[in-house]
Formats: sequence, C-alpha cells, structure tokens
Amino acid sequence: MIIRKTAAELEKMRRSGLLVFTVLKKLGDMVEEGVSTYDLEVAADRMIADAGARPAFKGYFVPAAGERYKYVLCTSVNSEIVHGMPSPKRILKKGDIVSIDTGVQLDGYFGDSAITVGVGELSEETKRLLQVTRDSLELAIQQARSGNRLFDVCGTVERHVVSNGFSVVREYVGHGIGTQLHEEPQIPNYVDRKNENPRLKEGMVLAIEPMVNAGKADAKVLGDKWTAVTKDGSNSAHFEHCVAVTSNGPWVLTRP
Ligand code: MF3
Ligand code: CO
Repeated sequence: MIIRKTAAELEKMRRSGLLVFTVLKKLGDMVEEGVSTYDLEVAADRMIADAGARPAFKGYFVPAAGERYKYVLCTSVNSEIVHGMPSPKRILKKGDIVSIDTGVQLDGYFGDSAITVGVGELSEETKRLLQVTRDSLELAIQQARSGNRLFDVCGTVERHVVSNGFSVVREYVGHGIGTQLHEEPQIPNYVDRKNENPRLKEGMVLAIEPMVNAGKADAKVLGDKWTAVTKDGSNSAHFEHCVAVTSNGPWVLTRP
C-alpha cells in the first residue's frame, strides 16, 4: 500500500527535507582536495544533532548487508555507486567525484537526498555524467503528478540516461518515504513490466534517486558488505530528491 500524506504531514516532511538540503549544501561547499569523507561525516553528524533531528541511516538495518549501517552519510567516490562508508583514509583528490547521500528523521518524518560533487576540474566525460544524471532527476520530478503512473517516473530517467549513452543501475532503487525511510512503492530507474504500475495520487511522496554509470550497468558489492561499485570501474553518479505529488504539481521537499 502506498501511504498518502495529509497537508499537515507534508509540512512536517518539508521541515525534514529542508534540513537535509541545508546539510548537503554545507557538505558540498566543504568538498575540496585534501578533505576526507570522514570530515564530511563529522560535520553532518553535528548539524543534524544541532537541529534536534536523528540521522536516518545510522543504525538502519539493510537485509542485503545483513547488518545495521554505522554512519550518518553514504559517501561514494568515483566507481562507487552507493553505500560508500565515510573514512578518514578516503581523502578526496582533484578529478574525483563524490556522491553524498543522507537522511534525517525530524518530528517523526523522514527526509532523504543525495548530490554528487566534483573535486576541482573534471574531465568532459565526467561533467557530462553529472549533468545527465541531474537532468534525469529533474525530468523525472516533472512526472510526479496526480494521474500519471509510476512508470512515467521510472521510464523518464531510463530514457534520458540511455539516450545519452550511459546506463542505469538496476540493483538499487528509489522509494516512497514518510514515517519510514523506505515505504512503498519501489522506484526503479527503469521500467520493468513485471512490476506494478500504480497511478500517482495527491499526498504520495517519492524519493527519486537515479544512479547512473558512465559505462555498463553491472554492479557488485565489495567485501565490506556495503560498498556497491561498478564492475567495469567506470564512474557512477547519484542525485536524489523527495517529491510530493500535490494539486499544484510536483513539490520538491528537499530544496527551497
Ligand atoms: N541510500 C539509500 C537511500 O537513499 C539509503 C541508505 S541505506 C543505509 O534510500 F543503510 F545507508 F541507510
Ligand atoms: Co533514498
């Protein structure tokens, strides 16, 4: 069942969303050569605590990993797709890209968003990877409208990515969000005709999160049980927003 939120609930989700935005904005500004992914973790932990919120990922049980996640952030560098773990040893260098993904729970409701940021000057191909991934999210957000169907969102990401010569990751998907970090429906970044294709309705909130590889789609998980990487070693980008379906169209909760 896809849970629909009342206007009052959406206002609460808005507060969570804006906190996540503020955190990611600050972390994005911190990214430069010599900064470690753990420096980002420490800053995020402090900001979320200062706001009176709870970090949504820390302690979150992921069945595929078989354990609870230990950090506030997922920091996935270059060929890492998602669930990269912050480490003082992972020092960013020029030409790297880092996906920073975080979530919070505030007054019972979750917010979840991700950005991918470059360190210094990027190659033309990597700049294009970030732009195509960002654009695929913006186009998908525009599909989050009452009367459309879930596949309109999924297919919009897939078409934009594939037509630009990149590939979408299949093992990790977006999700509904509310009083749980992950609610129905699952939101793949591709159309799978075997899945249900519900009609979108006012009050639904979708966490749309394209994960896009510069090379092939294939992913594998490293021995740490968490870090997902591209099999071919190509770079991967990730952007995410929470979007409410409203009578006024899509409302992106995780940005001003
Ligand atoms: N990146 C996932 C999402 O955006 C959540 C992270 S799973 C966790 O839905 F284990 F890190 F919490
Ligand atoms: Co998410």
